Amino acid sequence: GKGEYDHYMLKEINSQPTTLANTIEGRVQDGDVVFEDLPEGTFADVETVQFVACGTSYHAAMYADQLLRSAGIRTDVVRASEYDSMSGPVDENTLVVAVTQSGETADTLDAVRTASANGARSLAVTNVVGSTAARETDDAVYIRAGPEVGVAATKTFSSQAVTLALLSQQLAADVPDVSPPEDSDAMLESLDALPGHLETVLENSNAESLASDLIDSQSFFFIGNGLGHPVALEGALKFKEITYEHAEGFASGELKHGPLALVTPETPVFAVATGSDSKTKTNAIEAQTRGAPIVAVSPDDNPLVDVAEDHLTIPDTHPVWAGLLANVQLQLLSYYAADELGRSIDKPRNLAKSVTVE
Ligand code: F6R
Repeated sequence: GKGEYDHYMLKEINSQPTTLANTIEGRVQDGDVVFEDLPEGTFADVETVQFVACGTSYHAAMYADQLLRSAGIRTDVVRASEYDSMSGPVDENTLVVAVTQSGETADTLDAVRTASANGARSLAVTNVVGSTAARETDDAVYIRAGPEVGVAATKTFSSQAVTLALLSQQLAADVPDVSPPEDSDAMLESLDALPGHLETVLENSNAESLASDLIDSQSFFFIGNGLGHPVALEGALKFKEITYEHAEGFASGELKHGPLALVTPETPVFAVATGSDSKTKTNAIEAQTRGAPIVAVSPDDNPLVDVAEDHLTIPDTHPVWAGLLANVQLQLLSYYAADELGRSIDKPRNLAKSVTVE
């Protein structure tokens, strides 16, 4: 049951220190990534990686795609519903990774079936043991987040992103002529602290009062650059999904290529800034000049904090994990905004937990 919480969504958001610890458990040993059933060298014949996913899972896949790219691996991320037009060629050296919480999303299953029929190797990254995706793919990795009841995906996004970040490390170790990024030891070392950092965010967040201050706005914009980009997209998806308010996410630098025309004092901009993402600050200032209130979603020492009207703070950590902490602040923001509006948070109108039609 929901226990002390008004909604499953809030319970699931708050469970993340525990669910994430469960995701991580045993998967980093002596500084190396370890996945049961996928021994070292498993991916030695992989030349390219292609992620297929929908919705929130697509945002987690974008995160992984960036991590693989920075390790020098050829990779792509394709919206499963667009697979037929966007896939391009695959072969036996292509690893197609289906990222799907439920393991039952029709678009994702269809994409991975097409890829397999064309000779690709397949891997499911899923939460549900025995799901269709897990059964039909060559291999499966479980995100171990526990059952998610709220229609809006929260804890499973965090567990997907961490699982995929670890998988990226293993791919970088296995794929020939590629080596893990220089800071990968630091990234793995700082993972231990992530559940504690999540706890800190959950205990100290000012998202509830910020949500109530901004709730009467006309539209809600989310921007981010680099790893902040998928977080901005996910922040906007969650917000529109449960508040029914207009929300959009952009790559920070794209604001000036059109969306800036929408910016007014009635359009707060949540700017996700987790590392060396200077584009977010300059573009946030462009929006601010047009009157938009800026909310920095960042560690305290990020330069954006000096110019922003408001701040959702996150602890200092490796940039790869910082995005996940920023995302949890945005989950809380969406939750409290939807609660203030009296929405049907656990079962938003028109949506289903698992989308089994194409
Ligand atoms: C958003 C949400 C959806 C799902 C999408 C894919 O909160 O839950 O966007 O992420 O329908 O579902 P799975 O991951 O089960 O394939």
